[in-house]
Amino acid sequence: MYFSLTEEQQAVKEAARDFAQNELLPGVIERDIKAEFPTEQVRMMAELGFMGMMVSPEYGGGGMDTLSYVLAMEEISKVDPSCAVIMSVNNSLVCWGLEAYGTEEQKQKYLTKLATGEWIGSFCLSEPEAGSDATSQRTTAEDRGDHYLLNGTKNWITNGSTSKVHLVMAQTHPELRHRGINTLIVESDWPGVTIGPKEDKLGIRASDTCSIMYQDVVVPKKNRIAEEGFGFKFAMQTLDGGRIGIAAQALGIAAGAYERALVYSKERKAFGKPISAHQAIAFKLADMATEIEAARMLVYRAAWLKDQGLPYSAAAAMAKMFASDVAMRHTVEAVQIHGGYGYVREYHVERLMRDAKITQIYEGTNEIQRLVIARNILKGQLYVPLFGAAWEQTA
Ligand code: CAA
Repeated sequence: MYFSLTEEQQAVKEAARDFAQNELLPGVIERDIKAEFPTEQVRMMAELGFMGMMVSPEYGGGGMDTLSYVLAMEEISKVDPSCAVIMSVNNSLVCWGLEAYGTEEQKQKYLTKLATGEWIGSFCLSEPEAGSDATSQRTTAEDRGDHYLLNGTKNWITNGSTSKVHLVMAQTHPELRHRGINTLIVESDWPGVTIGPKEDKLGIRASDTCSIMYQDVVVPKKNRIAEEGFGFKFAMQTLDGGRIGIAAQALGIAAGAYERALVYSKERKAFGKPISAHQAIAFKLADMATEIEAARMLVYRAAWLKDQGLPYSAAAAMAKMFASDVAMRHTVEAVQIHGGYGYVREYHVERLMRDAKITQIYEGTNEIQRLVIARNILKGQLYVPLFGAAWEQTA
């Protein structure tokens, strides 16, 4: 068992850290206050190859492994979780799905531009009345021979107003329930597509989250991903990988808040010594460091399983659930360690605390993650344990 990174992974981590510290940190508070989309920063992320990290070079991507992607997500999330989610959706929910299931024509037309970051993508599954219960899609894709007629509304879409390419899940055969759902590639400037106003959010305020309305949008059949009726399974498989990205985002938020709390606690004095020398604070730091390390192991392991071609659905759910709970718990503690300073913007931890909350909600609430984990346990398909023996052999 190796707990070390390869040279390439280490280089990715350092590049992401430098970028986050030098380019993201300076304007992050202002972008949060103004809820301003980081256009220039996303352009730089594209230039650095962060928008299509795992896509094969043949389609303009970085050809990297999932662990490298996770390392970059972690470093960027320590500083600017808004930029991280823009990157995560493009990498894992859009590029990954297109590469895994798209036709060659779809890859040439869409993936090549998404992987380089020339275009941004969005993943349009959630609806006003279908969030956790994702099989209950009300958006319809009526079969009209050579095309589908798309009608419906999608909610809370990350990259909503900035994405050129939408992957939209819609119901074609309601009588077949989830087996009647298709995923369609829709371009944002097609007639009938209307983007709603940007949501005014508690956290990740710089990322744009919108509803999108589709009214009689003509989608050519060649823009359906994979075979008829595969749209729901496509969404579920794609989300399995997406959850690793969000787990990495949560890990980065927790680690970023911890690093700030550690530095502050060594500088700030009370009762004649640094507050880190008081057991009340030292024990908080010990708990934070331990739980963040545990989250890191779960996140890296989920990435590793994916890279090995082993089942990772439950491992991704565990990583996302645990890391997001750690992020929420320890950003609150980071604010507490900072005392009154923690409550003001310039110390960053109040923003990280607000940003942490969404990681317990999007890409499947933590209640849904528990459902996914429990179902895998009961099916005897928990995961391949660390030490290599198949679960079936040890159960
Ligand atoms: N991989 C492949 N197939 C899967 C799967 C997976 N991980 N999970 C489920 N499926 C298949 C099942 O096998 C089943 O197929 P069959 O009928 O052919 O056997 C089908 O999908 C339906 O599954 P269930 O019977 O388990 O359906 P359910 O309704 O009981 O549960 C659910 C489904 C797990 C709750 C699912 O609806 C879910 O994950 N909900 C959460 C949705 C979500 O994560 N939304 C995030 C929105 S995107 C976002 O947040 C992006 C962003 O902005 C950052």
